[in-house]
Amino acid sequence: MKKIHKKYLLLAHTLAKKQFGKTFPNPSVGCVLVKNNKILSMSSTGLNGRPHAEEIVLKKAGKKSIGSTMYVTLEPCYHNSTFGSCAKQIVKSKIKNIYISKIDPDSRTNRKSIKFFKKNYIKTYVELLSEKLNQLNNFYFISTKLRRPYIKVKMAISKDEKIAWQDFSSKWISNSKSRNYAHNIRDTSQAILTTAKTVIKDNPRFTVRQNNKIIRYLNIIVIDCSLKIPFKSKILKNISKKRIIIFTSKNNRKTAKLEKLGCEVIKMKKNNKSRMNLKNIFKKIYQLQIRDILVEAGGVLFTQLINTSLIDELHIFKAPIIIGNHGIPLIFGKTINDLNIKKISKKRFGNDQYSNYVIKP
Ligand SMILES: NC(=O)c1ccc[n+]([C@@H]2O[C@H](COP(=O)([O-])OP(=O)(O)OC[C@H]3O[C@@H](n4cnc5c(N)ncnc54)[C@H](OP(=O)(O)O)[C@@H]3O)[C@@H](O)[C@H]2O)c1
Repeated sequence: MKKIHKKYLLLAHTLAKKQFGKTFPNPSVGCVLVKNNKILSMSSTGLNGRPHAEEIVLKKAGKKSIGSTMYVTLEPCYHNSTFGSCAKQIVKSKIKNIYISKIDPDSRTNRKSIKFFKKNYIKTYVELLSEKLNQLNNFYFISTKLRRPYIKVKMAISKDEKIAWQDFSSKWISNSKSRNYAHNIRDTSQAILTTAKTVIKDNPRFTVRQNNKIIRYLNIIVIDCSLKIPFKSKILKNISKKRIIIFTSKNNRKTAKLEKLGCEVIKMKKNNKSRMNLKNIFKKIYQLQIRDILVEAGGVLFTQLINTSLIDELHIFKAPIIIGNHGIPLIFGKTINDLNIKKISKKRFGNDQYSNYVIKP
């Protein structure tokens, strides 16, 4: 690929990166339209995934797009977007060349747009700098393939791998710098998944905050077999600003009251150990258009997720403290060293050590 094409495609990737976290359930895509080495227009995917970057760019450029070159980080959609399919809009705009970073794995589009462009005499170049899109929108490729959300787990642990003291208090394991960084991880997630137990013990808000100011309300999913979540829980405030989805095996007066409050209550069967099937829960979450999840819960849930291969990424903040044998463990019967994981980055926040791992295939 010539240097000039690389430059514009890299610019499209930068645009996509800036918007990441705001386009769920869709990937964040960047697009640049160029003619005679001059940028006509550029954009990334709109909030909550619509409109698509390509249609924004074409709309901005209008008739000037005739004979231009488009640089886009993902194969444009063959299925419908805000103004019809992007592929049709692109052909109609009479652009001359298109440089695409990655083929869309979504079966409604997969290679169909590329064939359509070629059939309509648009010079089409594909799979260029594709690794960049892969890294950024990993959630999209994994969730499309597995038909379940991309699952990240965030944990603050002590040196001896405990997540809370014996009395279930856990607030002050990691320091304030680590906690600030944890808000960035929340900000690039579509939803938080937790348990009623963690809600009861910690009463978290699960908002994204900067300098103690709420900057975003996240969707929250609660595993609550017996419907124990108290009405006074902080997560049940400001329900109009987020989705609250509760998975339970109960169907009683409390179900109706929670629904009236605005929660989505989903009934699941439980097994003889009073457990709901996590794979089925994640399948359902995917069907509800949630494709990226950050788990913030305790070791009981974490152990099940590990044992059923339902984790893609780990964010571990390790503080230099010892909680001791009576503390609440991160994993039952294993340590982090036993897991089949690969460290992809690490940072220091004061005395805390942060490690980001992916699960090895
Ligand atoms: N350090 C950290 O980063 C961090 C993060 C979050 C939480 N915490 C701490 O973790 C502690 C709680 O940890 P934990 O390990 O005891 O609990 P947990 O993992 O948060 O929750 C366990 C409970 O969730 C329910 N549950 C889990 N899997 C289920 C399934 N498949 N089906 C149905 N229900 C299921 C069960 O509740 P029922 O049996 O009651 O229905 C189970 O007892 C709290 O003290 C909290 O402060 C620490």
